[in-house]
Amino acid sequence: MARRKIGVIGGGFVGSTTAQRLAEKELGDVVLVDIVEGMPQGKALDLSQAGPVCGYDSCVTGANDYASLAGADLVIITAGMPRKPGMDRSDLLKINGEIQQKVVSGIMEYAPEATLVIVSNPLDVMCFVAHQVSGLPKNKVVGMAGVLDTARYRTFIAMELGCSHKDIQAMVLGGHGDSMVPLTSTASVSGIPVQQLISPERLEELVHRTRHGGAEIVNLLKTGSAYFAPSASAVAMAESILLDQKRVLPCCSLLDGQYGIDDTWVGVPAVLGANGVEKILEVELNKTELDALQSSASSVHEGQGEVAQMLSLA
Ligand code: LAC
Repeated sequence: MARRKIGVIGGGFVGSTTAQRLAEKELGDVVLVDIVEGMPQGKALDLSQAGPVCGYDSCVTGANDYASLAGADLVIITAGMPRKPGMDRSDLLKINGEIQQKVVSGIMEYAPEATLVIVSNPLDVMCFVAHQVSGLPKNKVVGMAGVLDTARYRTFIAMELGCSHKDIQAMVLGGHGDSMVPLTSTASVSGIPVQQLISPERLEELVHRTRHGGAEIVNLLKTGSAYFAPSASAVAMAESILLDQKRVLPCCSLLDGQYGIDDTWVGVPAVLGANGVEKILEVELNKTELDALQSSASSVHEGQGEVAQMLSLA
């Protein structure tokens, strides 16, 4: 079988660590694309030269255009601007919506068969843009947020209990923002409900920290946002798709009726395999969680409407 070709759009910290993880796992040959001349080529050469030391054979190349993505099986899109002081949400929606529109059109010209994994923010609305612009079936567009938010939640629960994060099972649903919904009813440690081990007040504090997990890192770094856990999360999703692992991961997907939500991109548990989002799992939520998920979805839906108008999308 020929090697897989995986595109990564955006050569910033998230994009370049994503390329590194893909190469280290030998999931395929990697093409790193960025508009800055020389930068993706330089990072790709550096990553290639790490190959003999780390022992991977993946070819990593850099490019400033989309033609190099011809035949790609999967493309991870990290391109976008971070929020700057004085910018409001709709400014970011417009700027990143325009970037997403350009990027997705470029990819589709050369890799119309590719599955798209969206990482750019505001995540849920960018998935909507990618789906509209690409014309791909909804199962071939998926957004990365729930895996990251869940990783943060699992980390905080493990820190609280002083136990291995490997044994924490948990899930964060909803939009990738303050309205996300870390589930408390189903979070467990090797099958033991965490509600039996952590007081409701303390668990609420962990939920709060999870919701603001991205901002906590932005405040510490001062000049950027998280990238190790975001890239690890995007690569876990790519791996499940490329190797048809059928993992159940929280993913931003288009809902059409599930959880009482229609026509909205939001994080829900999904089976990720060779056909992208192969199934959305509808789990029973308590009333508080379902209300929170629906209200998170309605704020995403509002953003979808705004961006559709700004970009004149259907
Ligand atoms: C985060 C940003 C990057 O959650 O979305 O870290």
